Amino acid sequence: MSEQREYLPDIEQGLRFFPEQASRFAGDLDTFYIVLVVICGLLTLLVFVLICYFGYRYRVASHTDRHNPPSSRTSQRIELGVLAVMFVVFMGVFVWASGLYLGQYRGPQSAMTINVVGKQWMWKVQHPTGAREINTLHVPVGEPITLRVTSEDVIHSFYIPDFRLKRDVLPGAYREVWFEATKAGEYRLFCAEYCGSYHSRMRGKIVALAPADYQRWLSRQGEQEAPAVAGARLFESYGCSGCHLGKSNVRAPSLAGIFGRPVPLAGGGTVMADEAYLRDSILQPQKHIVAGFNPIMPSFSGQISEDELLQIIAYIKSLEPEDEALNPADTT
Ligand code: CUA
Repeated sequence: MSEQREYLPDIEQGLRFFPEQASRFAGDLDTFYIVLVVICGLLTLLVFVLICYFGYRYRVASHTDRHNPPSSRTSQRIELGVLAVMFVVFMGVFVWASGLYLGQYRGPQSAMTINVVGKQWMWKVQHPTGAREINTLHVPVGEPITLRVTSEDVIHSFYIPDFRLKRDVLPGAYREVWFEATKAGEYRLFCAEYCGSYHSRMRGKIVALAPADYQRWLSRQGEQEAPAVAGARLFESYGCSGCHLGKSNVRAPSLAGIFGRPVPLAGGGTVMADEAYLRDSILQPQKHIVAGFNPIMPSFSGQISEDELLQIIAYIKSLEPEDEALNPADTT
């Protein structure tokens, strides 16, 4: 029994047609789903009725009509008319669905970002304050939350039915998804991608709390080290600071203020210094060679865990720009 309890959150859910609507998207997605079902149902019904009607009219009831088919002009008009109606209906569905789908990708700028790392077979969560939890995610109600998800091993999928939220979680990539919980309560979290022997146990719960309760919960989490602070420590211990803070005679690009800016590349062109770029630069430094620098940085692939990477990236993001930051021409 205890094992069951451990993996199945104790959430009361009666039998219902739809899961609860507990996020800002849920209502819109359900409306879309119902409209889609109605359209498909009506089309199926129409085809069914026409089959019966034509079967009756041209087979059973009349033998004369078969010798008097409508002119090819008339049937062409009917075909074009049907095509036009279908086109409008399907384009409408496409545009509506795309809007809903794309709307779930990037949250508002003000959204709080929570890191989620999937791993066989658990979800590891870290809040911006540094608070950590496993298989449980506490969030404030009524505030947009962006989840930055990645995996430490295989493909998982982060799925909260009550929020109508599902996102594949890929190793080697950061992906974002956002939501806003609208009701306090506990909601189930699943892994929706087969990921090995204990895939079925890779589940947890979302605890949506009133903002004040969320703050209270955070403050009860004991000693918390902000990711950027932990990242600064790792930046030292992995030896990044030796080259990147200019204490040695190895000249490496300054990282101050680099985040969110274009980086000039040796082969011409630029690359935006976002999370994915910083991650690549640590794990596969030869992927983007910065103009004006020798490509001598070693790869840290296999040495740094996903959690540590996120912390180092948080630290790099926190660095304020220097006057001559990232301008190799100025450094001598
Ligand atoms: Cu992770 Cu299935």
